Amino acid sequence: MSAIFPLRRQRRLRHSAPLRSLVQETHISANDLIYPLLVEEGISEPVAIPTMPGIHRVPEKSLAREINAIAEDGVKAVILFGISHHKDAEGSDTWNPDGLMARMVASAKREVPELVVITDNCFCEYTDHGHCGVYGPNGVDNDATLENLARQALVAVEAGADMVAPSAMMDGQIAAIRRGLDEGGHPEAPILAYSSKFASAFYGPFRAAAGCDLVGDRRAYQMDPANGREALLESLIDEAEAADMLMVKPGLPYLDVLTRLRERTLLPLVCYQVGGEYAMIRFAADADALNEAASVHESLLAMKRAGADLIISYYARQALREGWVSA
Ligand code: PBG
Ligand code: ZN
Repeated sequence: MSAIFPLRRQRRLRHSAPLRSLVQETHISANDLIYPLLVEEGISEPVAIPTMPGIHRVPEKSLAREINAIAEDGVKAVILFGISHHKDAEGSDTWNPDGLMARMVASAKREVPELVVITDNCFCEYTDHGHCGVYGPNGVDNDATLENLARQALVAVEAGADMVAPSAMMDGQIAAIRRGLDEGGHPEAPILAYSSKFASAFYGPFRAAAGCDLVGDRRAYQMDPANGREALLESLIDEAEAADMLMVKPGLPYLDVLTRLRERTLLPLVCYQVGGEYAMIRFAADADALNEAASVHESLLAMKRAGADLIISYYARQALREGWVSA
C-alpha cells in the first residue's frame, strides 16, 4: 500500500445517514427560536409587507387569533413590535399603561399564557421623527431617553411581559432599566440586551415594514459595522450593567462577533436574523435560485454553530409549521 494512501479518512463517518446524525454537533429546534411579530393599531385587515413577502403587519384587533395560530404552529416565544398611530416627539405612548405596548402584551399573555412574550423596547415606531429616543438639535438625548426607557420597560413588565429587550442603543440603558424594574417591584424580570447592534443596511426591509420613516440615520447611536472589538466592549458593558442575555444583530454578516463574544461571556447569546436576511433568502427562493427550506435551515444552524443559544427569525413560524426545524 502506498505511503500516500489516506490513513485518516473523514468520510468514514459520513457514510450513512444514521452515522452522520450520530456525529452531528449542532441541532436546531423550537426551543431555539423567537418569532418577531409586528402589531399595528387602528387597522382592520393585515397589511402585506412588500419588502418581506409572507410577513404581515397584524391588526391589533386580530392579535388574539394570531397569537393562538402562532402557538399552534409550534412557536414558543415571540418578540412584539408595535406600529403606533399615536406618535409624538418622545414616543410617550410606550409608557402609557393603556398604550399599544401594554395592550399587545396583555392580550398575548391572556390568550396563550405559556407563550414567552418579549417586548422590543425602543421609540422609533412611536416617534414622529423616527429616531430611537428624545431627539433634539444635538441628535438623540441619551440621558433623557434613559428615563423614558425605564418607564416603558416597567409598563411592559406590569402588563405581563416575560422579558424586555431594549434596542435603542443608549449608553446606560441596561442599568437604567434594571433600576427602574427593581424599584418598581420587579427584580425578577429579565433583560435581553440588544448589546451589539450595528447600524446596518439589512434593517431596510424592516423599516419599510414598521413604517419608521427616518430623517438622517442611526450612526450616532448604533454601531459601526467596521468595529468588532468595540462590539465586545458594548456587550461586556451590558453584562456588567446586569443584562441577563446578550444579542448580536444582524446575524449572518456578524457571526464573527457572535463567536468572539461566545468566548468572553457565560450569558446566553441571541442572534437576530434581521429583515434583510429574510428578504435575501425569500427573494432568491422566489426566483428559484435557492431552495428556501434548506437555506433557512443552514442559516439557522450556522448561527447556532457560531455560538447562538437563541435566534430571532421571521422564518421561525414557517420553519416550524413546515417542519424545516424540529418541534
Ligand atoms: C428598533 C428596531 C429595529 C430592528 C429591531 N428593533 C430597527 C432599527 O434599529 O432601525 C430591526 C429589525 C429588523 O431589521 O428585522 N430599534
Ligand atoms: Zn429604535
